[in-house]
Amino acid sequence: MADRSILLIITGGVAAFKSLELIRELGRAGVKSRVILTKAAQEFVTPLSVSALSGEKCFTELFDLNDEAEMGHIELSRSADLVVVCPATADILAKAANGLANDLASTAILATDKRVLFAPAMNVRMWQHEAVQRNVQRLRDDGAIVLDPDEGLMACGEFGPGRLPEISALKARILAELTPDTSLSGQHILITAGPTREPIDPVRYLSNHSSGRQGYAIAEALQARGAKVTLVSGPVSIAPPNGVNLVPVETAQDMLKACETALPADAFISVAAVADWRPAKPAKSKLKIKGGDEPVALEFVENPDILKTLSHKTKNRPGLVIGFAAETNDVEAYARGKLEKKGCDWIIANDVSGDVMGGMNNQVNLITKDGAERSPNASKTQIANWIADRIAKALS
Ligand code: CTP
Repeated sequence: MADRSILLIITGGVAAFKSLELIRELGRAGVKSRVILTKAAQEFVTPLSVSALSGEKCFTELFDLNDEAEMGHIELSRSADLVVVCPATADILAKAANGLANDLASTAILATDKRVLFAPAMNVRMWQHEAVQRNVQRLRDDGAIVLDPDEGLMACGEFGPGRLPEISALKARILAELTPDTSLSGQHILITAGPTREPIDPVRYLSNHSSGRQGYAIAEALQARGAKVTLVSGPVSIAPPNGVNLVPVETAQDMLKACETALPADAFISVAAVADWRPAKPAKSKLKIKGGDEPVALEFVENPDILKTLSHKTKNRPGLVIGFAAETNDVEAYARGKLEKKGCDWIIANDVSGDVMGGMNNQVNLITKDGAERSPNASKTQIANWIADRIAKALS
């Protein structure tokens, strides 16, 4: 753990003093802690004791000229491998769940590109309050880790859940989060994502609402497990995950070509919403079709089915071929039909009758020849991790 570090945010609860022990325990394991103390936390512990234990400067102010000159708050939020909020009060959970950024701690949580782990500790009634539980759920949906507090006698004399977990348990969880997952190292995984664009003329095209978010999140989750990922993507407005080999394409035909070039691969995941048809003869110059008496007719030809083509390869067929089935009704029945028809190994079926396409959340059904498994309803990041865990297990 010698090269690993956390950004520890201590907020103002009576358990704040225990985070000093956490700094020391993590230090024994070789993990450096850089610490932010909120104003309320300074009622319980001092910047001096934090600095003495961490061996680092302790940060307290958002608008401190000296601190900003040394290390800006954005850089501070990204300098560590993990952000740990311990103890996390109801106040910081509410701020983080709602995207508030009115002090250094909440700003760092919003600005970080790393995972955030919250260790809540508060009075039992506060913890059980609907508002707090709503915020916890929201943070989990956004991909943060929110630990459940321990149950026991509290500093205020009440009994129930709300105590900070034992420092040994927190240390073990933090070390586990800092240990890189290499379950897919050495594997090459090819993914398609986003929509395709099929030109009608030089300025018009046919496309669909796919945002690419689910495919990009899967690419990121696989890459985080050590896989070499090739992401063949239609036009989207989101940034590709770091370290992934992005191959941008527009049409279904280009997408197929790019996939074939990227082979061999250990797994192929076809998340793209590929247009089934394309205009037969895209016009070379802009069509003038407004105001005519006759309805405008476009002739279409069928696009190649990329999933089916790669599934049926005799040479270089990826060992695990996964298709997606976006349906608005009879989801499982249609998905099973596609498993057969396309010749793939798994179909991940999702119901797109709601706002899944372009939306933030998803729920999927993983269908294999032998059975089916349903994911929780969760953010696309969580669904991506759920899928990546199953791919890692299958490829191992
Ligand atoms: N797919 C593909 N190439 C196509 C069409 C679809 O690779 N030309 C892949 C998608 O990436 C997805 C799966 O096939 O993994 C199912 O896509 P879907 O659009 O749901 O199925 P279709 O075969 O197009 O059938 P339909 O539109 O009739 O539901």
